[in-house]
Amino acid sequence: MVKKLKFSSCGHMRSDLVKDLNFGKMKHCHTWVFHSFNGVLVIGPLLLLFLVAIGSGYFYNTYSFPEPIVHENENRTSNLSGKCNFFDGNWMPDESYPLYNASECPFAEQGFSCLANGREDKEYLKWRWKPRNCEIPRFDVHEILEKLRGKRIVFVGDSLSRTQWESMICILMTGVEDKKSVYEVKGRKITRQIRHLQVRFSSFNFTVEFYRSIFLVQPGAPPKRSPKRIKKALMLDKMDDISKEWIQSDILIFNTGHWWTPTKLFELGWYFQIDGKMKLGMTINGAFKQALATWKSWVEKKVNTDRTRVFFRTFEATHWRCA
Ligand SMILES: *[C@@H]1O[C@H](CO)[C@@H](O)[C@H](O)[C@H]1NC(C)=O
Ligand SMILES: *[C@@H]1O[C@H](CO)[C@@H](O)[C@H](O)[C@H]1NC(C)=O
Ligand SMILES: *[C@@H]1O[C@H](CO)[C@@H](O)[C@H](O)[C@H]1NC(C)=O
Ligand SMILES: *[C@@H]1O[C@H](CO)[C@@H](O)[C@H](O)[C@H]1NC(C)=O
Repeated sequence: MVKKLKFSSCGHMRSDLVKDLNFGKMKHCHTWVFHSFNGVLVIGPLLLLFLVAIGSGYFYNTYSFPEPIVHENENRTSNLSGKCNFFDGNWMPDESYPLYNASECPFAEQGFSCLANGREDKEYLKWRWKPRNCEIPRFDVHEILEKLRGKRIVFVGDSLSRTQWESMICILMTGVEDKKSVYEVKGRKITRQIRHLQVRFSSFNFTVEFYRSIFLVQPGAPPKRSPKRIKKALMLDKMDDISKEWIQSDILIFNTGHWWTPTKLFELGWYFQIDGKMKLGMTINGAFKQALATWKSWVEKKVNTDRTRVFFRTFEATHWRCA
């Protein structure tokens, strides 16, 4: 509980709307905040109004990332969802949680199930999202399943999106009698590298999909005669090749961020490229910003926002052991 207070002081809620994509001050959190939140984030990131993909800005203490502005213009963000800004709030303890049991869900990845891996305390499962100025109705799985009839929900990003995708499926499955009626359409298994997974709720005629695209922009081979240390070029001005598969959806939830670090880029020989030219001096912050600008203009050009609700989800706490 005590830790939660600290968390609130550095957790910044953030989501969606493309038009609000801005960058502000840098901010740091303390590592122990991440420890206390590991469980919540991997087990129940979607324990809230399903339509509200929660955006939270957590930042590793070693690196700083640009922080999107949320509070700068309260009026604008408060108007996102009518009267209430769902993205401005806190996690509250709620004894009636959790809303699903990961051990009973075939789509909960073993590696991310704290209970299955022997964690004994359960308090971390009992957090409910509370917007500052309103109440979210309790998650009503039957109502949500009906609302999703005929829809296509797509998560795109790194393992954060994958675990949210898993949670979404697990939470929805609590309202499905015949568990066999929920299946991955090609019988694919969840792995870290898999590019696409599509789970169908056949009795309700909808799918919940995941596309792995850790940077959202397209990786490729570096130009010929590049220095040897350059193994990959991350094209900051090009969306991922598979992005065309995301367009025809009803809810589109993105994330990227966790791979934008020196260890996951420069140390592995990944460098940035714009307009066919390597940008060896470019900082990660600068590149991240550029990639998000590419993503933003892609959304504006390609996505029919009359049909598709687009969300962007920023950082979560690290989910590596002892991280
Ligand atoms: C929000 O709207 C109120 C009333 O219209 C206004 O007084 C206030 O300055 C606005 N705040 C911001 C941050 O724009
Ligand atoms: C919020 O939206 C309502 C309805 O669209 C509008 O009348 C109102 O002026 C908006 N409020 C602010 C502070 O922008
Ligand atoms: C979750 O399900 C497993 C397997 O059915 C069961 O043993 C365990 O007690 C359940 N945990 C909770 C917290 O309900
Ligand atoms: C299932 O959903 C699709 C896409 O919305 C729709 O075209 C189709 O008619 C639906 N099928 C049934 C049996 O309701």
